[in-house]
Formats: sequence, structure tokens, C-alpha cells
Amino acid sequence: MKQTLALKLLFGMALTLGALPAYAQAPQPTAVMPGFTANGERTCLTCHGGDPKVTVILQNPMAVKGDPHTPFAREGCEGCHGPSGDHAAGKAPFPAIVFKGPNASPVEVRNAVCLTCHQAGLRMNWQGSQMERAGLACTDCHTAHTAKDPILVKATQPEKCFTCHAEQRADSFKFSHHPIREGLVVCSDCHNPHGSPGPKMLKEFTVNETCYNCHADKRGPLLWEHQPVRENCLTCHTPHGSTQAALLIQRSPYLCQECHANGGHQSQILAGQNLAGELAANIRMMARGCVNCHSQIHGSNSPNGTFFTR
Ligand code: HEC
Ligand code: HEC
Ligand code: HEC
Ligand code: HEC
Ligand code: HEC
Ligand code: HEC
Ligand code: HEC
Ligand code: HEC
Ligand code: HEC
Ligand code: HEC
Repeated sequence: MKQTLALKLLFGMALTLGALPAYAQAPQPTAVMPGFTANGERTCLTCHGGDPKVTVILQNPMAVKGDPHTPFAREGCEGCHGPSGDHAAGKAPFPAIVFKGPNASPVEVRNAVCLTCHQAGLRMNWQGSQMERAGLACTDCHTAHTAKDPILVKATQPEKCFTCHAEQRADSFKFSHHPIREGLVVCSDCHNPHGSPGPKMLKEFTVNETCYNCHADKRGPLLWEHQPVRENCLTCHTPHGSTQAALLIQRSPYLCQECHANGGHQSQILAGQNLAGELAANIRMMARGCVNCHSQIHGSNSPNGTFFTR
């Protein structure tokens, strides 16, 4: 079993390795290359031209023949499906490379097709990324036969990610959440799903740098810094959704008491006195608790802001 797989893989690799560099070098084939069909996509469309799910690719930017870098400008359909003269002549059931369904080529082979032209830029860290190691195909997220790839559209991208990431879908429904469902923020605003040198495939090297891209007011430097804010926003916040206000991981005062409970008013949940001198809830704990007074919790620029109260 393993052996057949390996053989299939080798066969596919040989196909891609043999054929793909040729794409990269040959801008506009004048003669039909070995293995390829004559007349390019016109031949393919004699049989597949009646299926709108196939022909919609003619509206995709990759079908622009005027751009010499597109698959269509090079080998038409075979710019992606590989040299398929045999299939077009009715001698093989499938083209050299199939992307979806039960006859799909091995993931490595499919990805190699796309990477021939798209290795640069966002894909710089694809090799070794969580996605690559998990065996994801470019086409698990991308759709080629479409006018506009849904993964590139704000309104439709999250749904695609949610098909595999159920936890983040659940988070998006919570009381407090980044406005993903509302179409204002998308997953790829914070993540590079092709891999990154930072943690959790974040776009930037650190969590905080990622947050500062939109919450620039939190970047500082400030006169009075609150140490955990500088260290990691996720000390207090969760990125996708929370049942607490402001994406907090816990309600204050408990949030603050994780670190500030060593005496003083911070630790006295029930140790205040009312005007009659009776034991009552400490007013410093009421309502939103600590941040009612320590409102500049992310740091302060006021000369009197030592305690983040202004
Ligand atoms: C002589 C007619 C004919 C020509 C020409 C032809 N195909 Fe096909 N192709 C078929 C048939 C029949 C099938 C099987 C359809 C099915 O089962 O739905 C098929 C299946 C496919 C599949 C799907 C394989 C799968 O398992 O889902 C792809 C992709 C494909 N062809 C691409 C091409 C490309 C690219 C070309 C041009 C190089 C081409 N075809 C030319 C008849 C043709
Ligand atoms: C940019 C690369 C690319 C080009 C160019 C391309 N295809 Fe495809 N093809 C794919 C991918 C990827 C899929 C899997 C479904 C998808 O993403 O739309 C696919 C799926 C198919 C299928 C199977 C349809 C299905 O899902 O049952 C057929 C048939 C097919 N292509 C034929 C063609 C023909 C004919 C052409 C030329 C007119 C062509 N393709 C050009 C990448 C390409
Ligand atoms: C022969 C080179 C080539 C191959 C192979 C190729 N592409 Fe492309 N692709 C291009 C070019 C050129 C563009 C247009 C770039 C532009 O306009 O910036 C493009 C555009 C795209 C876009 C942007 C589309 C848009 O609507 O803006 C996506 C996504 C994409 N390709 C994904 C893929 C995937 C996935 C594969 C493999 C199934 C693939 N490409 C195979 C050359 C290629
Ligand atoms: C986990 C989902 C996912 C996978 C897997 C994936 N992509 Fe993408 N891709 C995206 C998203 C989301 C965007 C939009 C990114 C943005 O707007 O910052 C994108 C954008 C692109 C673009 C257009 C933007 C650009 O860089 O020019 C291309 C081309 C592309 N991807 C190619 C690929 C290739 C090639 C692979 C496989 C090696 C791949 N992608 C794998 C989700 C994915
Ligand atoms: C086809 C299923 C699939 C789709 C679609 C998908 N992912 Fe993933 N994703 C995975 C798998 C599998 C992993 C690896 C899981 C692991 O390492 O625990 C992963 C890992 C991740 C990670 C890194 C997790 C870590 O622990 O480092 C992030 C972030 C992520 N995906 C975001 C996205 C985004 C954003 C999208 C949409 C653009 C997306 N994913 C679409 C399957 C998918
Ligand atoms: C506002 C920025 C932001 C947005 C938008 C965002 N993420 Fe994240 N995501 C993060 C951060 C930060 C982490 C790291 C969390 C950690 O280290 O605990 C993360 C972690 C993840 C993980 C790994 C979770 C784990 O427990 O290891 C996955 C998967 C993920 N995000 C998927 C998604 C998906 C899918 C979307 C879109 C629906 C999305 N993210 C939108 C910032 C964001
Ligand atoms: C792409 C831009 C963007 C990035 C990056 C981003 N945010 Fe946000 N954030 C927003 C938007 C938009 C809102 C909603 C603002 C509003 O409703 O006024 C928001 C709201 C918030 C809120 C308040 C939520 C509430 O319910 O009141 C918190 C807390 C927050 N973000 C923390 C973070 C953290 C932590 C990071 C880094 C992991 C981050 N953000 C990264 C755009 C972003
Ligand atoms: C020590 C805990 C803590 C840390 C660390 C922290 N925050 Fe907050 N953040 C809070 C609290 C508490 C609130 C709610 C404030 C309120 O209700 O007035 C809040 C509210 C917010 C809000 C919404 C209200 C506003 O001020 O705009 C944003 C956005 C935000 N935080 C972003 C960030 C970012 C970005 C970081 C990292 C640079 C960060 N936070 C680190 C405790 C923290
Ligand atoms: C992860 C631990 C942590 C959390 C959670 C945390 N803090 Fe802090 N906080 C610190 C550290 C460390 C300092 C710096 C202490 C020092 O300089 O002595 C600090 C300093 C302060 C100061 C200034 C005290 C001084 O002596 O200068 C105030 C006020 C404060 N925090 C309030 C809060 C409030 C209110 C919350 C909840 C919203 C909170 N903190 C959450 C770790 C934390
Ligand atoms: C009614 C306003 C108020 C509330 C509510 C409040 N504080 Fe304070 N806090 C202050 C003031 C004013 C100071 C300045 C020093 C003082 O007067 O004790 C201070 C000082 C501090 C300090 C530094 C000095 C010390 O005593 O160690 C910390 C840490 C602190 N507060 C944490 C908290 C935490 C945690 C909470 C919530 C459990 C909280 N505060 C609730 C007003 C408040």
C-alpha cells in the first residue's frame, strides 16, 4: 500500500519536475511541446466547453492571455493540469494533474504546480509551515474555476476557514468578538495562512506587533507603562471571541487579582465599609471594578498617571 503511494508520488513528481520548469522558461510556446495537446485550451473546450463550472475559469485573472505569466498564456488549461495530450486524444481517462475528487493527484504534485508561479511573496514561509506539514493543498483554500476566488473576498473568506476551524467559528458568535462576522476584519488581517516566522502563523513576528497594526494607540512608548501590556496583549485578551466584555479572558477584578492580590485595596473584595461603618462590598470592586478608576490600563501619558488612573 505504502509502496503504491510512493510510486504514485514519484510518478507525479517526475511529471511535475519534468514539465513544470518548462512552463517557467517558456513564455509563449510556438510549437506544441511533447505531451501537450495541439491548440491548447481550445482542444480541451471541445469536450469541456459545455460545463459552466469549468468554463467560468475564463473570467479568472489567470485566463488573461495578454499577461505572459498566466497559465493560459503559456499552455492554456495544461498550464495547471499538466501535459495532457493523451487525455485530449481520448487515450487517458484523466489529464496529467487532477486537483479535486477521487482521482486527485498527490498533494505535493498539486502544490508544486501552483508554487512554480507563486512561491514568492506571501508563500516565502510555506515550506515547513503548519499548513504544509499538515498536508494541506493550495486548493483546500483556493478555487481556480471561478471569476473571483472566495478566499480573497472579505465576506466569504472566514466561512472557508471555519470549515476546518470550528473553535474559531464558535468564538465569532460570542458576546465580544473581533468583527469578523460583520465583515470588518478577516482572518488574514492577523494571520498569513501560508506560514510565517512568527507564532501561530501570525502576520508579524509577535502578537503585539500584529495588534499594533490596527490598535496603534496601544503601541507606546508611554510615560507610565503597564508591564503585562508591553509583554503580550494576550495576558488579558483573547483574539477571537470572549464571553467577557472587551475580549477579556476574565472579568475584572479577578483578571487583575491574578497578579495584584498581595494586600491593599486590590485584594479586599468584601472588606469595605459603608457610611454607617458596616462591613460591605468595597466600592473599589463595584461594577467594572478596577478599571473604573484605573482607566488607563494600557499605560498613561499623564504626569500623574503612575497608577493608570488618568
Ligand atoms: C475527447 C473529449 C475530451 C477532451 C478533448 C478533454 N477531456 Fe477532460 N475529460 C473528458 C471526459 C469524458 C472526462 C471524464 C468526465 C467525468 O467523469 O465527469 C474528463 C475528465 C477531465 C477532468 C476531471 C478528472 C476527474 O477525475 O475529475 C479534468 C481535470 C479534465 N478532464 C481536464 C481536461 C483538460 C485540461 C483537457 C485538455 C488538455 C481535456 N480535459 C480534454 C473528456 C475530454
Ligand atoms: C490555475 C490552474 C488551472 C487552470 C489554468 C485550469 N484548471 Fe481546471 N482545475 C484546477 C483546479 C485547482 C481544480 C479543482 C477545482 C477548483 O479549484 O475550481 C480544477 C478542476 C477542473 C475540472 C474538474 C471539475 C470538477 O470539479 O469536477 C475540470 C474538468 C477542469 N478543471 C478542466 C479544465 C479545463 C478544461 C481548463 C481550461 C479551460 C482548466 N481546467 C484550466 C486548476 C486549473
Ligand atoms: C503559469 C503560472 C501560474 C500557475 C501554474 C498558477 N498561477 Fe495563479 N496566477 C498566475 C498569474 C500570472 C496571476 C495573476 C497575478 C496578478 O494579477 O497579480 C495569478 C493569480 C492568482 C490568484 C489571484 C487571483 C485573483 O483573483 O486576484 C490566485 C489566488 C492564484 N493565482 C492561485 C493559484 C493556484 C491555487 C494555483 C494552482 C492551482 C495557481 N495559481 C497556478 C500565475 C500562475
Ligand atoms: C489555509 C488557507 C490557504 C492555503 C492552504 C493557501 N492559501 Fe493562498 N491565500 C489564502 C488567503 C486567506 C489569501 C488572502 C491573503 C491576504 O489577502 O493577505 C491567499 C492569497 C493567495 C494569493 C493571492 C495574493 C498574492 O499573494 O498574490 C495567491 C497567489 C495564493 N494565495 C497562492 C497560494 C498557493 C500557491 C498555495 C499553496 C502553496 C496557497 N495559496 C495556499 C489562503 C490560503
Ligand atoms: C482544509 C482544512 C483547513 C482550512 C480550510 C484552513 N485550515 Fe488552518 N489549519 C488546518 C490544519 C490541519 C492545521 C494544523 C493544525 C495543527 O497544527 O494543530 C491548521 C493550522 C492553522 C493555524 C496554526 C495553528 C497553530 O497551532 O500554529 C492557523 C493560525 C490557521 N490554521 C488559520 C487558518 C486560516 C486563517 C484559514 C483560512 C484562510 C484556515 N486556517 C483554513 C486546516 C485548515
Ligand atoms: C485580531 C487578530 C486575529 C484575527 C482576526 C484572527 N486571529 Fe486567529 N489568532 C490570533 C492570535 C493572536 C492567535 C494566537 C493565540 C494564542 O497564542 O493563544 C491566534 C490563533 C489562532 C489559531 C491557533 C489556535 C490555537 O489554539 O493554537 C487558529 C487555528 C486561528 N487563530 C484561526 C483563525 C481563523 C480561522 C480566523 C478567522 C475566522 C482567525 N484566526 C482570525 C489572532 C487573530
Ligand atoms: C485588522 C485590524 C485589527 C487587528 C490586527 C486587531 N484588531 Fe482588535 N479590533 C479591530 C476592530 C475593527 C475592532 C472593533 C472596534 C470597534 O468596534 O470599535 C477591534 C476591537 C478590539 C477589542 C475590543 C473588543 C470589544 O468587544 O470591545 C479588543 C480588546 C481588541 N480589538 C484587541 C486586539 C488584540 C489583542 C489584537 C492582537 C491580537 C487585535 N485586537 C488586533 C481591529 C483589529
Ligand atoms: C493587564 C491586562 C491587559 C493587557 C495586557 C492588555 N489589555 Fe487591552 N484591555 C484591558 C481591559 C481591562 C480593558 C477594558 C477596559 C474598559 O473596560 O474600560 C481593555 C480594553 C481594550 C480595548 C478596547 C478599549 C480600548 O481601549 O480601545 C482594546 C482595543 C485593547 N484593550 C487592546 C489591547 C492591546 C492591543 C493590548 C496589547 C498591546 C492590550 N489591550 C493589552 C486589559 C488589558
Ligand atoms: C500578568 C500580571 C498582571 C495583570 C493581569 C495585571 N497587572 Fe497590573 N501590574 C503588573 C506588573 C508586573 C506591574 C508593575 C509592578 C511594579 O512596578 O511594581 C503592574 C502595575 C500596575 C499598577 C501600578 C502599580 C505601581 O505600583 O506602579 C496598577 C495600578 C495596576 N498594575 C493595575 C492593574 C489592574 C487594574 C489590572 C487589571 C485590569 C492589572 N493591573 C492586571 C502585572 C499585572
Ligand atoms: C475607587 C477607585 C479605585 C478602584 C475601584 C481600584 N483602585 Fe487601585 N488604586 C486607586 C488609587 C487612587 C490608587 C493610588 C494609591 C492609593 O490611593 O491607594 C490605587 C493604587 C493601586 C495599585 C498600586 C498601589 C498599591 O496599593 O499597591 C494597584 C496595584 C491597584 N491600585 C490595583 C487595583 C486593583 C487590582 C483593583 C481592582 C481589584 C483596583 N486597584 C481598584 C483607586 C482604585
